[in-house]
Amino acid sequence: MNTPLPPQRRPIRALADMLISQIAAGEVVERPASVVKELLENAIDAGASRIELQIEEGGVRRVAVIDDGCGIPEDELALALQRHATSKITSLEELERVGTLGFRGEALASIAAVARVRITSRTRNAPNASVLDSADAHVAPTAGTAGTTIEVLDLYSQTPARRKFLKSTGTETAHCTDAWRRVALAHPQIAFTLRVDGRRAEHYPAGSWQARALAGLGDDYAKAHRETDSGAGTLALTGLLGLPTHSRARADRQFVYVNGRFVRDRLLTHAVRQAYSDVLHGDRQPAYVLFLNIDPALVDVNVHPAKTEVRFRDSQAVHRLVFHAVRDALRTTAAEHPTLTSDEQRRWSAAAGPAQMQGPARFTPVQGALPIAEPGARPGAPAFSYSTALRPDASEAALGFYATGQDAPSNYGQPAGSMYNTDQPVENAAASPVQDLQNHATAQAGAIPALGYAIAQLHGVYILAQNAAGLVLIDMHAAHERIVYERLKRALDSRQMPRQPLLIPATFRAEAVDASLVEEAAETLTALGLEMSLIGPTAIAVRTVPAELASGDPAALARSVLAELREAGTARALTEHRDALLASMACHGAVRANRRLSIPEMNALLREMEATAGADQCNHGRPTWVQVTMQELDRWFLRGR
Ligand SMILES: Nc1ncnc2c1ncn2[C@@H]1O[C@H](COP(=O)(O)OP(=O)(O)OP(=O)(O)O)[C@@H](O)[C@H]1O
Ligand SMILES: [Mg+2]
Repeated sequence: MNTPLPPQRRPIRALADMLISQIAAGEVVERPASVVKELLENAIDAGASRIELQIEEGGVRRVAVIDDGCGIPEDELALALQRHATSKITSLEELERVGTLGFRGEALASIAAVARVRITSRTRNAPNASVLDSADAHVAPTAGTAGTTIEVLDLYSQTPARRKFLKSTGTETAHCTDAWRRVALAHPQIAFTLRVDGRRAEHYPAGSWQARALAGLGDDYAKAHRETDSGAGTLALTGLLGLPTHSRARADRQFVYVNGRFVRDRLLTHAVRQAYSDVLHGDRQPAYVLFLNIDPALVDVNVHPAKTEVRFRDSQAVHRLVFHAVRDALRTTAAEHPTLTSDEQRRWSAAAGPAQMQGPARFTPVQGALPIAEPGARPGAPAFSYSTALRPDASEAALGFYATGQDAPSNYGQPAGSMYNTDQPVENAAASPVQDLQNHATAQAGAIPALGYAIAQLHGVYILAQNAAGLVLIDMHAAHERIVYERLKRALDSRQMPRQPLLIPATFRAEAVDASLVEEAAETLTALGLEMSLIGPTAIAVRTVPAELASGDPAALARSVLAELREAGTARALTEHRDALLASMACHGAVRANRRLSIPEMNALLREMEATAGADQCNHGRPTWVQVTMQELDRWFLRGR
C-alpha cells in the first residue's frame, strides 16, 4: 500500500503586496457593481456637485466616474492606488467618528489588483491635469478640468476564475444601475447622470431629498407615500414610506441608509417590517427610503470591507425609534389623507392580483340611488349572524350596526360622531335616501366629511357614498374588520379586553393538542377575552368571548385562536404574533358580506373609519375605500369633450 507523502513544508513568507490586494479584492470587488459603488463614494467624499457614471458591457469592459470634486494633487496620484493609503483618516480616534464614506484606503488598490485603472485628476489651483495609468504606473501631464475621472478597464481579465462568476451583460448592468441608484438617493444635493453603453440612461438633478427619494421609489409612489421625520440630533429618522396599498411582490424598493451609507441591516429591516405588519400582513413587501442619522461615535461601520453592515451601540434605541416613526407615519385616517384615487387603486389591483375594480366597465349604474342590497346575491357567502342577545350593552347602537330589519335611529346628516349619541332627537327618521342626499347637496361643502354620506349598498359588498370630490366606494367588510381590529388592539394594550359571558357556553370537539392548550395558555386566552374550559378529554366549552366579537360564532373564534396559538407558540402569541392573531380574531367579528345595512349604519361606519387611524387599508394592505372623482366620472361618459 502506498501511503500519500506528506506535503512538503514551505517556509513562512510575507505575501507580496499585489497578492494581498488580489486577495482583498475578493471581498471589495465582488462584481462590476462594487466598482461602481467604490468610485461613486470616492467622488462624493471629494465634495463633487456633479457626478457622471459611464458603464460599458455591464461594467466589465469599462466603468468610469467623472466628478467635479477637489481632485488629487499630481504627487499623490501614485499613493491613491496604494494599499492602506488614504486621505480620510489618520488615527483610531478619527476612525471612530468617521464622516466620509471611505476610510480603509484599499478600494482603488483592490480594484487595480483585478483591472486596469486610469486616474485623470486636477486640483483647483493646479495648472494642468495629470494622468496615472496602473498599466505602467507612470504619471504624465494631460488636458482636463478641475475634478477627477477614474476609469476601470477590462475587469477580471487577469483573473479568469472570477470572470466566470459574472452573469450576463444585462444582469451586470442592472446591478450597476442599482448600485448607482443606492448611492444617488442619499445625496440629493449632487446631480447624478448614468450613461449605459454611451446612451444617457438616467439623470437626477440636484434637489430636495423628497424628490430624490421619490425618484428611487418610482412614479407609482408619487402620491402613495407618507413622509416621516422623527427624532433629533444624535438619533433621527427621515424618509418616505410607500403606502401598504402599493405593496410589492419583491423587496426591490427598500432603501435604508445610516449616515448617508446604504446598509443591509437586519435590525433596521426588522423594525420597519414590524411597523408595517400593523397594516400589511403576509408576504407582500413595502417600498421605502429611510435615512437614519446617528452620532458616528454610536455606530460601527467597520464591520465588513464593503461597509454594508453596521453595528449600533444602542440597538434597542435605534429599533424603537424606527419602529415608532414608521408606524406613526402609516397610521393616518381618511380625514387626514382624503385621496386614494381610483387610478392608484387600479394600478394596485393590476399589480396585486385580486380584481376589485378594473375600470368603468365593471360598474352597473345605480338607479335612483336606493339601497340595492340583495341578501344572498353571492351564493356561498355566509349570512351575517347577529344576535342582540349576546350584546353586553347598547354597544350595537354605539357601533351603529343594527340587525336586519330593525329600525335604527337615523342621524343621517348630523355632524361626524353624532351616531354615537342615540339619545339625540331622531330627525328625518322616515326620510328616503334620495331626500337625504338632496339635503346634503345643499349643505356647505366644508361640512361634508372626508368619506361623505352613504347613498346605497352594492350587491351586499360595497357601500357607495358621495363626498365633495365625487363618489366613494367602501369595502364594507374590510373596513369594519379593520375597525374591530384597532379596537381589539387598544383593549389588549390597556389590558382591559371587555368580555361577554355566554349564557349558554358554546361547546366543541377539538384535537388533543388544542385541549391541552386550553389549560397551558389560560392566561393568554383570558387576556384575549376568551375563557374556556375542558369538559371532556377533547371537548371544550367557551364561556366568554371578547365583547367586540360577541356577534360572531364563539366556537369558530375559539378554534381559530387555538390554531394561531399552536402555530405561533404561546410565548410569542401576544408579542411578535399579536397583530396577526388580533387580525384573524377581528375577521370573526366583522360585518359579513350580504348583510343589509341601513343608511345610518353605513354612515356610522364611514364616520368611524374617519376617526380610526390605519382604517385606510385592511389588514392585508388592500385599500378599504376608493375615491372616484367627478372628473373621472365625466371622462367615463365623455362629458365636456
Ligand atoms: N474621485 C476622487 N477625488 C479625489 N480624491 C480621490 C478620488 N478617488 C480617490 N481619491 C483619493 O484616493 C484615496 C484612495 O481611495 P480609496 O477609495 O482607495 O480609499 P479610501 O476612499 O480612502 O478608503 P476606502 O477603501 O474605504 O474606500 C482617497 O483617500 C482619496 O484621497
Ligand atoms: Mg474609497
